[in-house]
Amino acid sequence: MLPTRLEEGKDPAAIATLRVTHSRQYPLRLLQFFLLFLIIGIAGSFLSMYMVRHFGIHNVAFVQSSSRKPCFQRPAVVENWFKAPSSLLHSMNDAELFWRASFSPRIQSYPFKRTPKIAFMFLTKGPLPMAPLWERFFKGHEKLYSIYVHSLPSYNADFPPSSVFYRRQIPSQVAEWGMMSMCDAERRLLANALLDISNEWFVLLSEACIPLHNFSIVYRYLSRSRYSFMGAFDEPGPYGRGRYEENMKPEINLSDWRKGSQWFEINRELAVRVVEDSTYYPKLRDFCVPHKCYVDEHYFQTMLTINTPQLLANRSVTYVDWSRGGAHPATFGKNDIKEEFFKKILQNQTCLYNNQPTSLCFLFARKFAPNALGPLLDLAPKVLGIGNSSHF
Ligand SMILES: *[C@@H]1O[C@H](CO)[C@@H](O)[C@H](O)[C@H]1NC(C)=O
Ligand SMILES: *[C@@H]1O[C@H](CO)[C@@H](O)[C@H](O)[C@H]1NC(C)=O
Ligand SMILES: *[C@@H]1O[C@H](CO)[C@@H](O)[C@H](O)[C@H]1NC(C)=O
Ligand SMILES: *[C@@H]1O[C@H](CO)[C@@H](O)[C@H](O)[C@H]1NC(C)=O
Ligand SMILES: *[C@@H]1O[C@H](CO)[C@@H](O)[C@H](O)[C@H]1NC(C)=O
Repeated sequence: MLPTRLEEGKDPAAIATLRVTHSRQYPLRLLQFFLLFLIIGIAGSFLSMYMVRHFGIHNVAFVQSSSRKPCFQRPAVVENWFKAPSSLLHSMNDAELFWRASFSPRIQSYPFKRTPKIAFMFLTKGPLPMAPLWERFFKGHEKLYSIYVHSLPSYNADFPPSSVFYRRQIPSQVAEWGMMSMCDAERRLLANALLDISNEWFVLLSEACIPLHNFSIVYRYLSRSRYSFMGAFDEPGPYGRGRYEENMKPEINLSDWRKGSQWFEINRELAVRVVEDSTYYPKLRDFCVPHKCYVDEHYFQTMLTINTPQLLANRSVTYVDWSRGGAHPATFGKNDIKEEFFKKILQNQTCLYNNQPTSLCFLFARKFAPNALGPLLDLAPKVLGIGNSSHF
């Protein structure tokens, strides 16, 4: 207050004097503060020693006297073991990450309230053109999902803090189509998602995927299913059994060899199995290589069929159109996005859900070109039940 008023009076000498006296007073004040804190500190440590002695926290007292550390350590509470990591950044390599992610409790029931979440794992090259649709899909369900994005390491995501994708990028490496590096990326996504003990279902998606139903339906469908949605079938002919190699024996026999879509949904138990595997990995890495074999269509499908066939639905919940033929499925652009198109995917289907026939077979669909976003956002409230129609 005082200096400001003096400065207004524009008397440089007076200002200088005042500044000097002012700064001379500082050390004295500092000393007073210091003493005050010292007294509070000493009183605090006496108080805590008294508490420890008299309230019988024997373990803490023992630790304190043996290691001679001040006892400001928080007692171990079960929450410390299941808190989600606050940041997705870490400096673990794959071996360290997979080892850490393979930890799983042996006691099946959780001794605390755990709300199981769906981990949405986006395996992308770079941008997420369908992000605005996904933002609407996730809105209002914050406690029931978590998001993980694996993109090429050269790509820098720049989502605003308000976005559900903000800081959800995991440490990534180059992944190439049909190569083991693609499965490595998927395992990396699973392992990062496993670090959050609340994640119970793990869905793999690409930047070309969209949701076909609102979040409530997706959550109910996955959480109530007895099976995981890993597409896995025994296909005769050159593109199925023809890709099997005798060298894969004895770990993998021809009758176990499976093919299926890369885009899966698996539960926590299966996710741990995928991350911890060292039995099938070398076989697939060495004997399923392009251009004869594409490992992302066989590795998890075959491995889980051998390990836990009774837990697989053997079908995918991600719709894809192979009817046009060729090595890649159809990509839908803005001219394809009509109500009729969704009628076919949403209504004209039959499949088994918990062993009962149903027409609700797909929760997600691909592949959509970036220019499909506009028409998708327009149709989403009416056709997919995602978002609301207030922006019309
Ligand atoms: C999700 O869709 C179903 C069926 O269309 C509807 O009954 C339900 O109210 C929707 N939920 C939300 C949160 O919009
Ligand atoms: C493959 O077949 C051999 C011989 O029949 C058998 O010993 C082995 O257990 C089989 N492997 C699997 C994974 O079923
Ligand atoms: C999926 O296939 C496996 C054999 O590959 C079978 O044991 C399992 O029962 C099938 N799942 C369902 C839901 O039919
Ligand atoms: C529904 O499926 C049937 C049989 O597969 C087909 O004949 C019909 O054209 C389909 N309808 C639509 C709207 O796609
Ligand atoms: C629905 O519309 C309102 C008003 O425009 C908006 O604030 C809200 O975020 C919208 N909800 C969703 C799920 O998009």
